[in-house]
Amino acid sequence: MAKQWRCAVVGTGMVGEWHVKTVPHVPATTLVAVCDVATERAKAALEKNKLVGVPIYTDQAEMLRKEQIDVVHICTPSGGHMKPAIMAMEAGKNVICEKPMEIQLDRIDRMIEVAGQCGVRLAGIFQNRWNPANRAIRDAAAAGRFGRFAWAGCFTQWYRTDEYYRDGGWRGTWKLDGGGAIMNQSVHAIDLLQWIVGPVKQVSAYASSRIHAEIEVEDTLSCALQFANGGFGTIVGTTAMYPGIPMRIEVGGENGTAVSENGLKMFKFRDERAGDKELVELVNRKRGSSTGSGASAADVPLDMHGMNIRAILDAWGEGRDAETCGTEARKAVAIVLAMYESAKKNGEAVEVK
Ligand SMILES: NC(=O)c1ccc[n+]([C@@H]2O[C@H](COP(=O)([O-])OP(=O)(O)OC[C@H]3O[C@@H](n4cnc5c(N)ncnc54)[C@H](O)[C@@H]3O)[C@@H](O)[C@H]2O)c1
Repeated sequence: MAKQWRCAVVGTGMVGEWHVKTVPHVPATTLVAVCDVATERAKAALEKNKLVGVPIYTDQAEMLRKEQIDVVHICTPSGGHMKPAIMAMEAGKNVICEKPMEIQLDRIDRMIEVAGQCGVRLAGIFQNRWNPANRAIRDAAAAGRFGRFAWAGCFTQWYRTDEYYRDGGWRGTWKLDGGGAIMNQSVHAIDLLQWIVGPVKQVSAYASSRIHAEIEVEDTLSCALQFANGGFGTIVGTTAMYPGIPMRIEVGGENGTAVSENGLKMFKFRDERAGDKELVELVNRKRGSSTGSGASAADVPLDMHGMNIRAILDAWGEGRDAETCGTEARKAVAIVLAMYESAKKNGEAVEVK
């Protein structure tokens, strides 16, 4: 019989509520407890999803002592992931952590180290890897169908209101958001870019807050980069482009070009294969319910979260690390931090650590 996973969610704000909603629909999982420093948020998340009898805690340590838990889902503000994750791992629990895994590399490294020391598993959420258009491009890249990469780019040109940044008291702060449009929103596309094309060697970026006067971090960043394989690339991220357009990934090389934008906009290879046309049709038919326009923080198709969580638990059940394990989730954050360092130095080239 497949392993049964008893899951608890820590932080039941906007994204924690998605985990509360999603966990009961992932095969072989049960939601056994929720924890939020604000009880009313935990109550609201359960009520919204008509979940009764799930215990609510305001103190994570108490929850870990009292409940039988296999997996703790960390959905607290980004710069507050390490502490609850380490507390859970030191109590012998596996951890699934929302993106970005943390906002500094030394904190992510510490989380990875503790997972190893405690003999538990750690994985991050990067649900866009389960978007079929992105996965089709990644599969084509892994099969070598692009040949030598020439250029690849990711574009997260979204819009967020001033209210979005005020809500929660942590968004748009260096301390808890760890950055702005790039660390919070574009980190998804940056993960996809490096997952598809390979490691980024160096970056050169410009950033500032163009329209959100109240935030201390960037709402817009533009970056030129070089991949370790020699190809060039571009990263653009903003929350200042009203009304926002869908996230786009473009990849091209000597033998093919592909574009993911709310489906597969282009998927053309010199070695056209039987099945390519059907794949494009299938992917475009199966597009998520989201418009993908990035017009609001809640405009995210939740089916990919379920697929990401399921893939993590399936891997763990088979005794292997998840595709989005700690070291993998670290990569996008390393690129983001290199871009911030470059932007601080007015576009000077910075190597990705
Ligand atoms: N995967 C995605 O598409 C996606 C989308 C948005 C946000 N996120 C990530 O999810 C995380 C949370 O974002 P959000 O928008 O849900 O924030 P939020 O402010 O809506 O919710 C955070 C919740 O955590 C609670 N909290 C804070 N510290 C706590 C602690 N120590 N113990 C228990 N509860 C605590 C707060 O009371 C709040 O309810 C962030 O890291 C963010 O980057 C992921």
